[in-house]
Amino acid sequence: MKKRLCNHGNGYYPALSHIARISNSELSLRRICNSIAKSTAKALGAGGCRILFLDSGKRYLSTIGAFGLSDFYLRKGLLDAHKSLPEILEGKVVFVPDATKDERVQHNQIAEAQRVCSILGAPIEDKGEIIGEIRVYTHEPHDFLKEDRRFLVSVTNMSAVLLERHRLQQLLVNSYQPDEKDLISSPSPKLPASTLRPTEFAHPSEEEFASILDFYCVEWLYEPRSFPLNWDNDRVTEMFTPDFYLPELNIYIELTTLKQSLMTAKNRKLRKLKELYPNINIKLLTKNDIANLLASHGYNTVVATKTEGVAQILYSHSQLQRRVRTLAKRISNDYAGQQLVMVGTLKGVICFMSDLMQHVSIPLTLDIMAISYYGGNGQVVKITKDLDGSIAGRHVLMVEDIIDTGMTLNYVLNYLRAHNPASLRVCTLFDKRTRRLVDIPLDYVGFEVPDKFIVGYGLDYKGEYRNLPFVGVLRPELIRNGIPVTDMPDRNKRQE
Ligand code: IMP
Ligand code: MG
Repeated sequence: MKKRLCNHGNGYYPALSHIARISNSELSLRRICNSIAKSTAKALGAGGCRILFLDSGKRYLSTIGAFGLSDFYLRKGLLDAHKSLPEILEGKVVFVPDATKDERVQHNQIAEAQRVCSILGAPIEDKGEIIGEIRVYTHEPHDFLKEDRRFLVSVTNMSAVLLERHRLQQLLVNSYQPDEKDLISSPSPKLPASTLRPTEFAHPSEEEFASILDFYCVEWLYEPRSFPLNWDNDRVTEMFTPDFYLPELNIYIELTTLKQSLMTAKNRKLRKLKELYPNINIKLLTKNDIANLLASHGYNTVVATKTEGVAQILYSHSQLQRRVRTLAKRISNDYAGQQLVMVGTLKGVICFMSDLMQHVSIPLTLDIMAISYYGGNGQVVKITKDLDGSIAGRHVLMVEDIIDTGMTLNYVLNYLRAHNPASLRVCTLFDKRTRRLVDIPLDYVGFEVPDKFIVGYGLDYKGEYRNLPFVGVLRPELIRNGIPVTDMPDRNKRQE
């Protein structure tokens, strides 16, 4: 376990001073709590922090302010205060060295997937009554010092005064909507769905649905959250637990068995849930609806025959979009204040280049080349469409779909260099590094891919599959001698 040698003593005072000041500001309670969470995490050298409010029934905790935790983690649902670090309810400061293994943590699997490791939690007490909690999270195993715990208790005391003053206790439950800028900006590591796969599904149709989602690389959680629907005073008397939550699409899914008698009760619960939680997006799905739902999120085409040759999806539409946005952000920063020319070669790059340029925030110009391969064994690359404009003295970014052997790129870069650009860099969506014959430094890489033939999102096999909105692996039986027959027959002969 990592023990810090230097304490953050110097950071406590500025943090407390900031918290006192912000608590007295005109900002909304949510913003104040987000800010307290941020100062607290920073002062303790932790990755995340959240402030939780205990409902008047002293049962459920809901988040009212957070910093550094992904949206996904925050939305995992109300915490049962009696199941999640219950000793805090006894007024104790609780330390969990490893959240992924500790049975006091309610959602171990999610903690693991979200890289939450150590937790320090403390009660917020108002006149001797526990009204909430503050929890601090680290990504690495971490030990908190005595001073850290004292500091956290001071923060909880200040928060108690703040919450008391706002007297919003009833309104707070379920009112939390994370501020986008307060969430982790880089996407959390992709969850292997299997991490979260429960050992048993309540119904075979649920397992089938999970397999479909896995095929499409859509993240899912099984029965992630229970929504209280009815109360007897402060005691919850009825709950509803949707079957699935799809974090990327922010949709809860309830699958239906088609029995009419069960449907009526289910519909009533759903209506009630929509009434009580109008911001929650929930859909009731029959088997036939599944295709429609996926279609409305850009996954439709797999259902059609054009995916016959696809064995497995490697990157979903949203994964591609997320990565493209990240690359565009880096490019925008790196080229700020410069004149950028993006150059691409037809045809594979069209989807990537068109998405990429739309997310680049600086002005740019575009030029397109076309090349073909010829010669007895396809060794010779020829430019069949030249650049439209001059690139002399301009900053050129060569955009590629995929670098395989590197021969094509090597040829094109030599050609571009001969036209004296001020600078020349390369951005490729895919890098099949293991097959490289010509070593070329790449400045921006979307994904490193295995030595498999991939199609979709512009990439083709015999001219087809370019219009798939995702990238998949071609069925191995379509590949002759390890080399697919593409629309560049000569070139492939070369490789045989
Ligand atoms: P290189 O000259 O071997 O680096 O080949 C790069 C070109 O080969 C790309 O621009 C693609 O047109 C094609 N290519 C290589 N691997 C794949 C693949 O897995 N799917 C589709 N096209 C590919
Ligand atoms: Mg290409």
